[in-house]
Amino acid sequence: MDYLVEVIDLTTLPPAQDVLSEREQAYYDTLKLPKRRTEWLGGRIALKKVITQCTPYAFKQIEVLPQEKSGKPELVLEEKSPNLPFSITHSHGYAVAAAAPQARYIGIDLEKVAHRINAWKQDFFHPSELTEDTDTFLTALWTQKESVVKLLGTGLTLNSFEIRCVGGNVQFFGRAQEIYNQLGCPSITLSTTTLIPGFQFSVAIGK
Ligand SMILES: CC(C)(COP(=O)(O)OP(=O)(O)OC[C@H]1O[C@@H](n2cnc3c(N)ncnc32)[C@H](O)[C@@H]1OP(=O)(O)O)[C@@H](O)C(=O)NCCC(=O)NCCS
Repeated sequence: MDYLVEVIDLTTLPPAQDVLSEREQAYYDTLKLPKRRTEWLGGRIALKKVITQCTPYAFKQIEVLPQEKSGKPELVLEEKSPNLPFSITHSHGYAVAAAAPQARYIGIDLEKVAHRINAWKQDFFHPSELTEDTDTFLTALWTQKESVVKLLGTGLTLNSFEIRCVGGNVQFFGRAQEIYNQLGCPSITLSTTTLIPGFQFSVAIGK
């Protein structure tokens, strides 16, 4: 496998003060909504578990701090940001983190398989992407698109038609193409698995 991954069940989290650094705890204390607090903490724990697999650092030495503008988290080890691509996702009671030490970029997304209305399909997917019509296929397609958005690091600034996932390959248009070019046109591999029963999980790796 090209990446390290950890899944955290959000119903069984340790106390925040046992796992967070001081700076992380200060940010965590500003979060008000219980769901957001749980997901944020679970994502940190998942990523800290991943990072302990490939570095000598202990949980509280591994800091994952949000960047102000993009919301994209930043990994900090001994006050430095290492060259270690990682990504976090949460959905319906689970948090997942992954890192790809050999790659240049990674984005991941986890979603529970659910039925969606036609308007949702038309709003988010270009007709060329809609090669099947099952709930599992459409959920997988959504996770693929989101994993690529996270790989690019743009958050909500893109029109979803500017990233198209067709047959497991990614196509970029417009602003997404510009951002992809700025990243040096990495070769992107998309993979989708169940990971957790009832879910779809996609990983986009850029080399
Ligand atoms: C910001 C976005 C990345 C969040 O995705 P999401 O599916 O709502 O939420 P997930 O649980 O999968 O991921 C959230 C995590 O993504 C990470 N993230 C946030 N902004 C990010 C960015 N700019 N780049 C990479 N990762 C980012 C964070 O780690 C966040 O968790 P945390 O705040 O607890 O650390 C973004 O893709 C989004 O909100 N999309 C909305 C849907 C949409 O319009 N999609 C179509 C776009 S083509």
